Amino acid sequence: MALKLSVVGCGYLGATHAACMSSLGFDVVGVDTDPEKIALLSKGELPFYEPGLDTLLATEIKTGRLKFTTDFSAVAEADVHFICVGTPQSKDGLAADLSYVKSAVTAIAPHLKSGSLVVGKSTVPVGTAQGLREQLTQSAPQADLAWNPEFLREGFAVEDTLTPNRLVVGVANDRAEEILKEVYKPIIDLGTPWIRADLPTSELVKVAANSFLATKISFINAMAEVCEAAGGDVTVLAKAIGYDPRIGNRFLQAGIGFGGGCLPKDIRAFMARAEELGAKQALEFLREIDAINLRARQRVIDVVRAELTEDLTSYTIAVLGAAFKPDSDDVRDSPALDIAAQLQAAGAAVVVHDPKAIENARKRFPNLGFAASVEECVKDSDLILHLTEWREYRDLDPKALASLVKKKIVIDGRNALDRDKWRAAEWQFHALGRTD
Ligand code: UGA
Repeated sequence: MALKLSVVGCGYLGATHAACMSSLGFDVVGVDTDPEKIALLSKGELPFYEPGLDTLLATEIKTGRLKFTTDFSAVAEADVHFICVGTPQSKDGLAADLSYVKSAVTAIAPHLKSGSLVVGKSTVPVGTAQGLREQLTQSAPQADLAWNPEFLREGFAVEDTLTPNRLVVGVANDRAEEILKEVYKPIIDLGTPWIRADLPTSELVKVAANSFLATKISFINAMAEVCEAAGGDVTVLAKAIGYDPRIGNRFLQAGIGFGGGCLPKDIRAFMARAEELGAKQALEFLREIDAINLRARQRVIDVVRAELTEDLTSYTIAVLGAAFKPDSDDVRDSPALDIAAQLQAAGAAVVVHDPKAIENARKRFPNLGFAASVEECVKDSDLILHLTEWREYRDLDPKALASLVKKKIVIDGRNALDRDKWRAAEWQFHALGRTD
């Protein structure tokens, strides 16, 4: 008999995982405490924007294999239970808030049938899985617990789930590994590398990967600072070092830095956990990675002031982009939105455009100005700030925009616009890390 699956927590990760597992042919029930989210998902509608997931979800709902509910007892029929709830930064420090993970396991424990496997996918501090496994052996000795970190990127969620570059499972015994191999058979058959680890290593793999990615971005942003001081060009530097396959050219895009619901909070939680473990010094460098990242936001504001005046009160600034990255409507810790809000706090009139994230941005900063089109956004502006590299911004025609603005000044905070094209249309063009 085919395994039945449950997914606990139907946010970004859970909704994606549930739809993708259903597309592999499993019966899947998604459970969440939020009735509004469940109502939307049950109709095959996504509560957030993710390319490709909307159509996949709608298709899978129609097959009848995929269901969503707020009733936790619905997990009783499932053999494997994926925990996909959030682990945000806690309100009072750097550590991760584990309350959602703990309540998810507590909520399903009474319903677990004999031989079932609980599989954590959420990003947690090392040691959490072992603690939860011990707790579960008390409350539901008939079940076991494994960890299976998730590496999906927003904007590529379906692709990263169905064709990941590796599968990592943290297990305490062979049986747990066998069950997970059964679930992921279609993906393993594609030749996907399979890595069996112990529970703590599997938790560490995830935060180590995100820390490495954050380090890469802050490294290139540190080089951008040096380029600015020395009269160099960070885009040329990145290209040149990237040809060395040991370095690689990806994640070397200098600009306003990383944001989102993962990288910033993961490096902070990792530092907090290392300190608890007595390994504080090993991760001290992440404090610098965080500082370089936040400094990038300040640096772009400095360029704005240098182009206009120190006092921003009489200027209108058009901000292109609110999401923390393109192809996403997520504004959690978005560098773009943070910069927009800081400029407004400094007295400028700020008008923001984003192809998908306006609604979420408005909820967070209701007092910012928002525009439904790029043209409306830039109208009568003194300066355009490009902060999220959506394709439609790269395709803009600077000649056409020139007639709408008060001053032809553009600052590229993502090093993604075609400088020559803008300069040919007589714009003053500036970018982070490029002195020319
Ligand atoms: C990140 C990881 O890339 C995923 O592998 C991981 O699964 C996920 O976190 C998670 O922990 O769940 P994501 O947050 O979707 O994925 O975003 P990224 O594509 O990693 O981008 C993060 C930030 O870095 C964005 O703000 C992006 O604009 C910025 N970035 C990225 C740069 O500033 N420069 C670059 O070269 C690349």
